[in-house]
Amino acid sequence: MAKLFYCKGAIRIIRKNGVPLTTKNFCFEGKETDIIIGWGILKNIGEKIAEHNPYRIVVVTDANIRKTYGEFVKRQIESQGIECMLVDFHPGEAQKAREVKDRILNEMLGFATADSGVVAVGGGIVLDVAGYAACEYFREKLKFFAVPTTLMAAHDAAIGAKNAVNSRFAKHSFGVYYPPKFVFIDAETIMSLNQREIRNGLMESIKHAMAQDIGFLEYLLSLPSDMKLSKEELLEVINRTIDLKLECMKGDEYEMFNPVLHLGHTLGHQIEFHSNFLLTHGEALSLGIRAEAVLANKLGMLSSEDVARVFSIFKRIGAPSKIPNASDEFLDKVIEGLKYDNKRTRRGTPFFLLKEFGIPPITVYEDSIPKEYILQCLKSIS
Ligand SMILES: NC(=O)c1ccc[n+]([C@@H]2O[C@H](COP(=O)([O-])OP(=O)(O)OC[C@H]3O[C@@H](n4cnc5c(N)ncnc54)[C@H](O)[C@@H]3O)[C@@H](O)[C@H]2O)c1
Ligand SMILES: [Zn+2]
Repeated sequence: MAKLFYCKGAIRIIRKNGVPLTTKNFCFEGKETDIIIGWGILKNIGEKIAEHNPYRIVVVTDANIRKTYGEFVKRQIESQGIECMLVDFHPGEAQKAREVKDRILNEMLGFATADSGVVAVGGGIVLDVAGYAACEYFREKLKFFAVPTTLMAAHDAAIGAKNAVNSRFAKHSFGVYYPPKFVFIDAETIMSLNQREIRNGLMESIKHAMAQDIGFLEYLLSLPSDMKLSKEELLEVINRTIDLKLECMKGDEYEMFNPVLHLGHTLGHQIEFHSNFLLTHGEALSLGIRAEAVLANKLGMLSSEDVARVFSIFKRIGAPSKIPNASDEFLDKVIEGLKYDNKRTRRGTPFFLLKEFGIPPITVYEDSIPKEYILQCLKSIS
């Protein structure tokens, strides 16, 4: 297994044409991905792509942001003399499916050559589908570039090599590791997100802060409750969340074993999937973290005071307090759905349970958890 080479010391501030840029990087199987973070830098995306000398580019986006960011990025790339086509799909988690990825692949045929590239412009869904398509096309020949435009995508989905789609039974059943050549974050684009989507992204920041950085947790809780973040606040959240994620990816570039990355996600993914995606990924995650805190308490790992603290954090941030319409049938589906979890082994599905604030969670497999505990912890958020 290749070693992760993460040049923490290589974080640098660069001023290009007067635009301050922060760059960080990560490595996957020895290949380096630059993460460029700035404000108002989207106009430079064409230049940045041209540095990689692709013959043609396929821009993949969703229908919501096609007009705003998709077409803008296409024009910037064309201004560098690179031929470009734009492909979009309906927004929403239901589109994160093999059929959509296959449709995009078919649309690319005849246009994208082996020396071409794919640029994903959008949220986590666009990045997942486009990254998967880029990988499969002509057997991994295309260059992939990520331009996240949501908070969730900027500080989580775009950071790392994972790309996946959902199956009929669960989230992320099928996918690939295919790192982008670079991740290009113009934080100004995130300003057009609504309050719910900003809060959605903040849930991943809270996840990291709870397990890795209590100071950051305090900072997140001091942000305006209407989620109207200033430029400085937005950049601070993005930079600090990415740094914490990169810390987790040290030695775990496949994002398989680091328990911080998966905190709250075992039940969170089930809740998200069985809510028919009425909840955002971040909302479901916040409910998953709460339910799993109750589970950790039942297993004697997390104190009752800390469980109360977990609940109060999400109340303060304005996350939904209960699973909407959580019938007995829904809860059964969530429990039944655990057998489709993509981290399941012969020991059952793993849970990543908080023992104490500020330290990484502990991995506990289903085979050492009494079955009724899982139902009881789900009832605490129903
Ligand atoms: N691969 C990974 O490692 C990874 C990590 C985290 C999350 N994810 C996945 O990412 C997905 C969630 O991503 P998301 O929260 O970005 O959702 P999303 O992609 O659905 O985007 C949310 C909504 O915002 C709209 N939008 C995008 N950019 C906008 C902008 N700048 N202004 C206004 N509207 C904009 C989109 O059209 C969409 O309606 C989930 O499927 C989750 O599982 C993957
Ligand atoms: Zn997540």
